[in-house]
This record gives sequence, C-alpha cells and structure tokens, in this order.
Amino acid sequence: METCRIKFVNQNRIVEAEKGKTLLEVEIEAGLVPDAPCGGNGKCGKCGVLVGGREVPACRLLVQEDLEVETLQREAAGGQILISGAGRPVEFKPELVCPEVDRPLLAAVDLGSTSIVAYLLDGENGKLLGVRSMLNPQRQYGADVVMRSSYAMENGAGALSSCVREAVNTLLREAASANGRSREEIVRVVMVGNACMHHLFLEIPTDTLVLAPYEPRVKEAVVMEAAGCGLKVHPMAGLFWLPNIGGFVGADTVGCMLASGFDRLDRLTLLVDIGTNGEMVLGDRRGMTVCSTAAGPAFEGARITCGMRGGEGAVDRVWTEGGTLKHHVIGDAEPVGICGSGLLDAAACLLETGYMDSSGKLSETWHFAPKVFLNQKDMRELQLAKAAVAAGIRLLCRHRGVSLEDIEEVQLAGAFGNYLNPKSACAVGLLPGELEGRIRSVGNAAGIGAQIAAVNADEFERGKRLAGQAEFLELAMDPEFQEVYVDELEFPDI
Ligand code: FES
Repeated sequence: METCRIKFVNQNRIVEAEKGKTLLEVEIEAGLVPDAPCGGNGKCGKCGVLVGGREVPACRLLVQEDLEVETLQREAAGGQILISGAGRPVEFKPELVCPEVDRPLLAAVDLGSTSIVAYLLDGENGKLLGVRSMLNPQRQYGADVVMRSSYAMENGAGALSSCVREAVNTLLREAASANGRSREEIVRVVMVGNACMHHLFLEIPTDTLVLAPYEPRVKEAVVMEAAGCGLKVHPMAGLFWLPNIGGFVGADTVGCMLASGFDRLDRLTLLVDIGTNGEMVLGDRRGMTVCSTAAGPAFEGARITCGMRGGEGAVDRVWTEGGTLKHHVIGDAEPVGICGSGLLDAAACLLETGYMDSSGKLSETWHFAPKVFLNQKDMRELQLAKAAVAAGIRLLCRHRGVSLEDIEEVQLAGAFGNYLNPKSACAVGLLPGELEGRIRSVGNAAGIGAQIAAVNADEFERGKRLAGQAEFLELAMDPEFQEVYVDELEFPDI
C-alpha cells in the first residue's frame, strides 16, 4: 500500500494516508470529526480545507502526494446545544436493577442526529446532578439520517455505532466525574432518539428506514443490559429505549409525548419538533395522531448556501428598523453564516420590506456580509421546508376533525423550536397564522421525557402505552398531501 504524509497544521499532527483516499476519509480516520453535511458527495461545499492556500472540498481531493492541510473551523465545535426543557413533577420511583450499589446513579440520554445530551441523575432521589452534551460525531458521515443510513448500508454500521457509543460513554464519564463519581455507579440508562439513531446505536440494519416500507425493524421498547452495547456503566445496569412509532416518528417523539403527558391533557395540544424532519403530535387525553414530514435540513443549516448550526458567528436574529434589516450574530462576532432562526427572521423581514414577494421571488441576493448572504435558491429551500411542516399541521387537523382555531396550545420542542421567533414562523407560514399567541417553547422535551422514564419505571411503561395509543398518519399516503403542500409553498401576504 502506497502512503502519503498528511500534515494537519491546526492540529499539529502528521498522519500516514493511503494514496487514492479522499482527504475527508483521511480526516475521519485521523479522528478529526470533520463536518460533511452531504456525506462526501461534493454537493454542499461545507467540508472545505486549505491546501497550498487554496480552499478545496476535502471530499473531492484524492490524496496523491504529501500535503499540508489547514482545516477550516466554520463554527464553534459545540454550537448551541439545547439541554433544558419544561418538565412536569414526577414521582421518584426507579426500578433499580443493581440494589447492591450503595449510591446508585441514573442516566438519561437524548441521542439526536445533530447533538447528544446526557443527563446524570441521583439514584437516591431522582435529582438532576449534571448535564453534558456534544455534537453527534456521526455528522462526519452526513448531516441527515438518510445519508448516514446509506453509509451504513454500503460500509456497515460499525463506524457509526461505535463513534456514537463512545460519545455517550464520554458524556457519562464527564458528567459523573464532575460530581466526584464514576460512571460505573450508573445502574439505569434510558435513551431516546429518532428511529435511525436508535437503530444505529443498537446496530440494527437501517435499510427498512430509508427504503420501502420506511418502517423501523424494531418498534417495541428495548430493555437490555447496557454492557451489551458497549456502555461502560455498572456491569449489571439496564438500558431502556422508549419505543419507535414509525420510520420517522421515533423514541424521541415518544419522549416528548411523555414529557407533555399527552394522555392526560385536557386541552387540545399540537406539539411540533422541527429538525431534519418535522415530527408533530396533535391530540389530548381523548386520543392523539402523530405524523412526520420531510422538512429537509434547511433549518439546521444544510442546503442553505451560507447555512450553519447555531453557534458563534451565526446570524441568529433579524429584524427591521425604519424599513432596514438589522441582524444579530451569536457571540457578537463577524457573521460567518446563518442559522435556522436567522433564516426564518430574515425571510419574514424580506417579505415585510417587499424585497421578496409571496411567491418567494427575491428582488436581489440579500447580503449580511460580503460572504454571508441569502439567495433565491435558499428561499426555495425554505419554501419546501416550511410547506412540508405547514401541510402536516393542516392534515393532522383534518384527520382529527378539528380546526386550527380549536388548538389551544402549540408546544415547540427541540433546539430550532426553542430559538425561533414564533412571530416570524407565522409570518412565513411555517406555522399557520391562526396559531400565533398560543405558541410556547418546551425546550428539549425528548430529553425531559427520557429523564422522567429514568426516575420512574412506571413512566417508562406509560411511554410504551403512549406509543401504542398514538395513531400514525402516513402523509406520503394521504391523497390530499400533495395539494395542501403545493398550496403552502407560497408565503402568506403581509
Ligand atoms: S461537499 Fe464535501 S461533504 Fe459536502
């Protein structure tokens, strides 16, 4: 095997790389965890590195000779990761599988496609002791679950599983040691995540998620020994995954439903969790319907020319003053990109000021800085994403035989839901205008649900019942979806 020497200047590291590999592959092998939103297909332009002073996409550069490479940090490695959320009082009633442990600890993990959050809880009273989070290292294999599943189908799921298991182990070790404890004292771990995260963590093939029938291979709750999937907690600790409902409505949505206690709600409530997919739940104690819609990763920065996740340098808020657009940048730094909440605000302001019409036509590319802008293609991506979510909400209402006016509360879950401005969301039609005034953020509801199930074994059972009670609306099969979706592509008239 012929090799070349690759020097990563910022990391001050030299690695031997097999000739003919892409530089992206070399970065992954070297453990640099590079961002590769399009999975190395050369489409997103976001894996750039500097070679000889020239920026090139790492996934397109085949290693043929010794190189000096500067990696480009487009965003703060941690970014903004949402860890908190609105909980409800829960009785402490864990089912401790290792009664011989003197001072047991519990853990809850929200395994998101973008970020992983681990909560450490006191096994004697259920109190939250600490939280640790990091970006999901699987992002080096693609930004969304389809790319990661495709990678797993082609190359096996080993790399995707092991990097994420290692990440969870790291977070649990850090959370425990910050409390002067050891992760080996953790006796119960409850996990939530979408169906793809669930399958990749448990090393279950993901083919049925991305190909027909688009169903999880395992829907039921999983209860197993944590050590069985590489978690370095107490050797007798149990691992509990809440169930999946469908291919795109996973254990994370069940966690949200558990956090809100949907089965006991008197008020008709709509829960919306927008990430790469928009998962929605509409209902109350009388019944609930769930659906998922392909929002696309526009709100997480992918497919938007200057898109990025929320982190230092991201334009996160835009508003108008005297007819002019003003913006805020996270960290009060120079703008390097635009995150989801900034994108939504900017579109609302461009509509308000007439720089964009309701068909989505921009009069000109809008610049926040010479290299940070929104163009026509970006607005089209936004239209596709917002129409998918809005159409899903309308069809959920039709399916349950209720009107938008009947919805008493809208709960926005997840990072994007936490940071977006509800007024902008209604102005661009991501959420129907009728709902304005009834919208509240519930933070990382999936993580809250996992904590609830960690401290009370009955709540884990309740999560299983909730998943069984929820009716799944398959939007792709709904004959009305296409028509409603096309209607929703237009922006509302302002
Ligand atoms: S262009 Fe290289 S990962 Fe997208």
